[in-house]
Parts: sequence; C-alpha cells; structure tokens
Amino acid sequence: MKQYRITTLNEFIIRRQANIPYAKGELSRLLHHIGIAAKVVNKKVNKAGLVDVLGAAGSENIQGEIQQKLDVFADMQFTTALKDSGECCGIASEENQEIITFDDDLANDGKYIVTMDPLDGSSNIDVNVSIGTIFSIYKRLSPRGHKAEERDFLQPGNRQIAAGYVVYGSSTMLVYTTGRGVNGFTLDPSIGEFCLSHPDIQTPQDGKIYSINEGNYANFPEGVKRYVDYCKEKDAATQRPKKSRYIGSLVADFHRNLLKGGIFMYPPTESSPSGKLRLIYECNPIGFLAEQANAIASDGRNRILDIEPQNLHQRVPFYTGSRNMVRRAERFLQETSARVGKNSG
Ligand code: AHG
Ligand code: MN
Ligand code: MN
Repeated sequence: MKQYRITTLNEFIIRRQANIPYAKGELSRLLHHIGIAAKVVNKKVNKAGLVDVLGAAGSENIQGEIQQKLDVFADMQFTTALKDSGECCGIASEENQEIITFDDDLANDGKYIVTMDPLDGSSNIDVNVSIGTIFSIYKRLSPRGHKAEERDFLQPGNRQIAAGYVVYGSSTMLVYTTGRGVNGFTLDPSIGEFCLSHPDIQTPQDGKIYSINEGNYANFPEGVKRYVDYCKEKDAATQRPKKSRYIGSLVADFHRNLLKGGIFMYPPTESSPSGKLRLIYECNPIGFLAEQANAIASDGRNRILDIEPQNLHQRVPFYTGSRNMVRRAERFLQETSARVGKNSG
C-alpha cells in the first residue's frame, strides 16, 4: 500500500523556523496558538445549526452592524488564544472600537501585535455558507516591557510579518504567509490537525472569474461599470464571457480566486463612499497573501500595502486577484476618472 507522508501545520511552522538563523520561536508559537483557536471556532461553526449560536447577539459592533453570536464567540476565542501565546502584547479586532492591550508582565514583553476580523462573512452563518477568520501579525513599534499602543496597530500593510485566514467551508483550511510564499493547510477532522494540502499557492496571471456585488451596479464608479461590462463580453481566447461568482464572504471569494484566478472588487458606492472593507482587518492581510501568491491588491490606484492607516476602522475600495485582471480594472478606473476630469474642466 502506498504510504502518504503528511506535514502538519506545526511541523511546517517548526521546519520553517529552523531555516531562519537566530529565530527564537516567538512567531511560531503565535501561529501555533492561532491554529488552536481556529480549531475551536471550527467546531462551533460546524455545530451552528444544532446549538444556540445562530442569530444576533443583541449588540452592535463598532461598524454599527449587528454582531452575530458566532462573531462574539470567535472574537473571544482568538483573543484568548493570542493572550495565552505570551507572544502578543495586544490586538485590534473588527469587533472592538479600541485596541485591547493584554496588560500583564508576560504579554507586555511580547514582540508582536495582531489585528483580526474574527468572523468574516457573518451574514452567511445562518444559511450554511462559508465564513472565515482573517489575521495579520506585526512587530510592535512601542518598547517591549510596556503596554501596546495604538501606533503599533496603525502600521502600513507592507510592515506585516505574517498574515492569513481560516475558511470554514466544505472543508476547513488555514492559509498563511510569512513573506515566503503562501501555503494552505486542510483540517483533517479525524486527527484534529491542519495538514499541508496546498504548498506554495500561485494565482494565475489571468482568470475567468469576476466577483463583485453587482446589485450595487447603478452606484459603481464609471470605470467599474465599464470593467464589469467588459467581463460580460466574449473573451477572445475562450469565446465566452467571464463567470460571475460572489459568495458575500471576502475570505471565501478571495480563496476561490486565489486558487483559480479571478478578480474580487469592492468599489466605493453611494452608501459606502470608501468601499465597505476595512484596511487593517481585511484588505492588508488579504493584500499580503495576494502579493505572496503573485496576485495583486489595490485601491484602484495605489498598492493597498503602502497605504498609511489613519484610524483603526478605516475602509478602502478594494480590487484584488489575478495580476492582469486587476491592472486592467485599474486602467478602466483611471481612464474614466481622467475623462470625467476633462469633461468637468
Ligand atoms: P463581515 O462579516 O466581517 O462584516 O464582512 C463582510 C464583508 C465581506 O466578507 C464581504 O466581502 C462583504 O462584506 C460583502 O458585502 P455585501 O453584502 O455588501 O456584498
Ligand atoms: Mn469581514
Ligand atoms: Mn467580521
């Protein structure tokens, strides 16, 4: 019988660490604890239809959106795991207005801070559709031995040390990067381990999929309308239009396009003039992963990772995915904005 050699997430992390001289294992421990929290949240997500975790928790998060019960649970699990790691001095979560500092001796000595969207795509929980968790890890700017400070969290995405997501889908996967490519691990429920299933993920330069909430079409900037129209035209090579695929969970939409090739867009709209997605919790980690997989992430003009965050909950327009698709969308946006400029001048 053929023997398959599996690599678990922890083995992989340790092996990677061994390749870095002087690494002390701090980042490895942090990633290990994120893996544990992901398994706990996964268990709860799987039982969502059976136990009393469906529906709203009765409070609103900072974005004014109703917090689903699982959002609260996931936020708590990841917060506890990060505190327990002893390597993280504080976190910023989409679910909390302010940063959380783990103000004790062990945590204050921690080198890292983490930002997270503990449950992404929460409107999909009640209908058994994929949801996720997104995280970023940065080195703190403030001195070790003290409480974390807000400036630790307002670093541009190009300072990320690691980023990743967990997608709770038909199987549960953890996908992460430390700046040396992107690797994906699938949870094997029979052994309770994330196992390397997608080594060195690379996104095709061109894709056949476009993902956008097209219900907002009337409110899109002219360039986005034109790009969406272009996607519906017959492609010269395939003689078919592009496929429209939109789940409504950024993690799940991005994950599919990361593997297959495609573009995800969340442009500004009338109700969300800066777009809907948050720079720190969503766009930066996804942007880092995209770039590490040979894809790109932009706000339509600028590289996402170079944006200097002004506040914790800042939103930005977001275009990410296959390199040639995003570049073309950017060209459409820039051409039309130049034309609008000319007309109005
Ligand atoms: P969250 O559940 O963390 O608030 O994020 C939801 C986000 C994102 O996952 C998704 O891409 C987008 O909202 C969908 O928004 P629309 O429903 O406006 O398309
Ligand atoms: Mn989200
Ligand atoms: Mn969320």
